[in-house]
Amino acid sequence: MIADLRKFDCGDLLVSPSLLAADFARLDSEIARVEKGGAELLHLDVMDGHFVPNLSFGGPVITSIRKVSKLLFDVHLMISHPEKYAASFAKAGADHITFHVESDDDPEAVIRTIRETGCTAGICVKPKTPAEAVFPYLDKVDMVLVMTVEPGFGGQKFMADMMSKVQAIRQEIDRKSLKVHLEVDGGVDRETVKPCIAAGANIFVAGTSVFRAPDGAEAAIAGLKHR
Ligand code: DX5
Ligand code: ZN
Repeated sequence: MIADLRKFDCGDLLVSPSLLAADFARLDSEIARVEKGGAELLHLDVMDGHFVPNLSFGGPVITSIRKVSKLLFDVHLMISHPEKYAASFAKAGADHITFHVESDDDPEAVIRTIRETGCTAGICVKPKTPAEAVFPYLDKVDMVLVMTVEPGFGGQKFMADMMSKVQAIRQEIDRKSLKVHLEVDGGVDRETVKPCIAAGANIFVAGTSVFRAPDGAEAAIAGLKHR
């Protein structure tokens, strides 16, 4: 583990550029670009072609990029059996691992397995899953991730109707006086980040709007942190 999510306050606005939108022929310089641009995290979308209808990359890519970056590796597992694979992603260089509450495994067991590796743990909800699905686990995780698109592909349209879910989860976190980060993922840019901030999210995953920003990653990242 290189970086620790627990060093950040849950009120801090943090940006986690999604590598899925980067130029895969130049991962080294693409990562350096967002690191210099002010990102705190790097979002790594792992897809298995089963839990979501797409394949991306796995452990070997993470092992390779670990050598060129000190960013907090924020691994988003969109896979059917997160419990089975969590340790291998930690070994590859993950600092934080998020899994889906809709996956086949028992969430408590997955959280325990992630913690045993030394990584921080996050739980994610797809658009059709209600906020209440993560309530039983709020005191056991470091982060909740609310999908603002159907998981599987970058470059989709932001779903504004997810904001009530973000708000409900933030309220429950605060009601229980917990220190849990709230991340949003999918279609987040300088405009759509505003309702996310208002609803109580503090970590913004952004692929297209950062890696493909016409005015550069630095301006895009600064725009995402503007209250
Ligand atoms: C979607 C992924 C996202 C995606 C975000 O399944 O979880 O992280 O890469 O990409 P943009 O920001 O382009 O919507
Ligand atoms: Zn993601």
